[in-house]
Amino acid sequence: MAKAKAATSFACSECGYSTGRWFGKCPSCGSFGTLTEEAPVVAAKAARARPLLRLAQVESEDAERIRTGVPELDRVLGGGLVPASLVLVGGEPGVGKSTLLLSALAHISEGRRALLVTGEESAAQVKLRAERLGGTERVEILAETDLDAIAATLEQERPDVCVIDSVQTLYSAEVGSAPGSVGQVREAAARLMRVAKSSGIALFLVGHVTKDGSVAGPRVLEHLVDCVLTFEGDRYREHRILRAVKNRFGSTNELGVFEMTGAGLVGMPDPSELFGRTAGGEVGAAVACVLEGTRPLLLEIQALVSPTDLAMPRRVGTGVDPKRLAMIVAVLGRHARLPLGSADVFVNVAGGVRIDEPGADLAVALAIASAARGAPVREGTAAFGEVGLTGRLRPATQAERRLSECAKLGLTTVVAPADTPAGSSVHVVAADTVGKAVGSALERTGTEAA
Ligand SMILES: Nc1ncnc2c1ncn2[C@@H]1O[C@H](COP(=O)(O)OP(=O)(O)OP(=O)(O)O)[C@@H](O)[C@H]1O
Ligand SMILES: [Mg+2]
Repeated sequence: MAKAKAATSFACSECGYSTGRWFGKCPSCGSFGTLTEEAPVVAAKAARARPLLRLAQVESEDAERIRTGVPELDRVLGGGLVPASLVLVGGEPGVGKSTLLLSALAHISEGRRALLVTGEESAAQVKLRAERLGGTERVEILAETDLDAIAATLEQERPDVCVIDSVQTLYSAEVGSAPGSVGQVREAAARLMRVAKSSGIALFLVGHVTKDGSVAGPRVLEHLVDCVLTFEGDRYREHRILRAVKNRFGSTNELGVFEMTGAGLVGMPDPSELFGRTAGGEVGAAVACVLEGTRPLLLEIQALVSPTDLAMPRRVGTGVDPKRLAMIVAVLGRHARLPLGSADVFVNVAGGVRIDEPGADLAVALAIASAARGAPVREGTAAFGEVGLTGRLRPATQAERRLSECAKLGLTTVVAPADTPAGSSVHVVAADTVGKAVGSALERTGTEAA
């Protein structure tokens, strides 16, 4: 009894925290009911010492990247797939992970061996999708969830690229717990990692994400794999965004945008068309560069200012905090001399997104000022910065990331607080007060110019 107690451990399926006894609430991440029992780890055998090498003696393989044939995917990967690497692709159910990877396999199979291991769908179900995508005739398929069988097959067949859909369905008899548990997923990833490195197979692992957006259970996986990609959907449109959260062989600032169509995912080479304002010279619209967690995102903010006879004019915001909106309206009235006292102000964040971050203040202010003055924001301009009660702009966090996001999406100018470092490819217009920002961001109207 005492022996079993000492050997058993419990792991949290959300954060991977491991403990010797069971808790209802995870002591590390605070989730409830997520601790599950894990089988004891078998003690390792004694090992012999190995010879060492100097780095100079290591033969560098000229790792030629494998083009996946999906340009957006290649870009996010940093120019293609590195042989013998492990890429984790996470995303919500139904976002299109299987579709994306099957079309990549279809292109790869034209010159190399491409294998799809499906644990989630039967081979016949995959065939349905394959018919929709086309060009998948040469892709090999294995419907299997037994980890040992998959590892053995990979070692024998040695395909160039293999997709495992999904890592949560894999099951190894050596680990006692159920498929999808932390222990199983960790074992599966570690095992496949060894196979990938020793057999030179580039592996894609599909992983489901939990409600808070992390790849389910095993944050541990993120340390293990070479690359972590997340695939996200826009709730209201058919657009999907692919980003690298981690990449050992490339930048994590790249993003790929796709549209889901009847014939599969189609890359959108010009995403600024989607997010930024397409109608140039529109009055009452501004582009905000906000941070969603650690991730920059461009959003269009729209405002309408209309005269009212109400004693208490309305300030209505969709997607913005009403208190912040009232504050921004008051600051604009006082420090940018906008006569908003007898006008209703409506603000809307396009696409139904909600912003909580103060860095979006300036773009909200610019949209309102544009609507009030009847002058559009200059074309290709985005803004970020927190508006203070004194009218001064406070610096926003992670300015570089926001600037590079603006550059990536084709914007040319960013209006930002005074001490924002200059961007490499976007022109930064520094403004210390909201009044100056409004002055430099709005186009001069005919009456003002005269
Ligand atoms: N005929 C079709 N026309 C347009 N879109 C389609 C069609 N068939 C499927 N889809 C889209 O493909 C999506 C499913 O894609 P896919 O199966 O690749 O997602 P997934 O991320 O692998 O999901 P899961 O997590 O369940 O495995 C659906 O949500 C739907 O939007
Ligand atoms: Mg799938």
